[in-house]
Amino acid sequence: MKNLFVSVLLDAKAEKKAAASINILNYNTAKAVMDAAERAGRDVIVQPSTGTVRRYGVEQMFAMLDGLRKGRSVRVAIHLDHCTDTALAKACVDAGWDSVMMDFSALPMEENIEKTRAMVEYAHARQVAVEGEVGVISGVEDDIAHENAHPATFEDTMDFIEKTGVDAIAPSIGTAHGVYTGTPVLNYELVERIGKEQTPLVVHGGTGLSVEAFHKLIALGAAKINISTALKNIYLGESRRQLENAKIAPVKFDEAVEKACSELMERHMRVFAGETLPLD
Ligand code: 13P
Repeated sequence: MKNLFVSVLLDAKAEKKAAASINILNYNTAKAVMDAAERAGRDVIVQPSTGTVRRYGVEQMFAMLDGLRKGRSVRVAIHLDHCTDTALAKACVDAGWDSVMMDFSALPMEENIEKTRAMVEYAHARQVAVEGEVGVISGVEDDIAHENAHPATFEDTMDFIEKTGVDAIAPSIGTAHGVYTGTPVLNYELVERIGKEQTPLVVHGGTGLSVEAFHKLIALGAAKINISTALKNIYLGESRRQLENAKIAPVKFDEAVEKACSELMERHMRVFAGETLPLD
């Protein structure tokens, strides 16, 4: 299957680098991320959450992102993050999105496989890729909250890939969505084993991992790294800072917030390509 999301991930994996996959929130953050990708010279994935997509509308969000990616010097894949709603994911597939992530990880394994497989069938028939999740990644992403992590095993992950036919796999490796309160204990051994397989491995919960952890995960085969909280935090933090200037005009305000978001996302992309830069 010829698909942009799959090509970006396979090329990143072949280079021993990872593509940043960022939960954009609106026009400003989407533009910030795509501009950052061009400056860094890195392909990128923009992945609004289901809540953000519902707020905009499936076709409207696609039209906005598709318009913004036109004429860029790097590839930009448009991906739906963490979806438990098959109807919404199908609507994205029909509207031309490059890929969707189905998150049925809270269900028993057999059901996770069955529901993900059904979406793969629907999506592949339309040249659209699917990411799946094995084990449970803890934390809150949008309206999906998992209190307790359930680690994935190598055997379950391989079984899931084989039975569903997913194009990318997000196993629970010890990362979590949101802000880490301590240093996460990552299952590098699992990443290494899955990393040797063909299907690109996705790391969720990227915010707050150290540069060393990113480099190690990528060296072991991680091809896609998700970042959400870091963007939300800089977006809100810089907004508050700018609003302290009571005289700031709306367009200048937007530009300043966008610039701060873009610079931080660029540093993430460069780190995922092997550079060592501060991420806070
Ligand atoms: P963070 O919010 O920890 O960056 O996680 C993002 C993510 O994995 C989105 O799916």
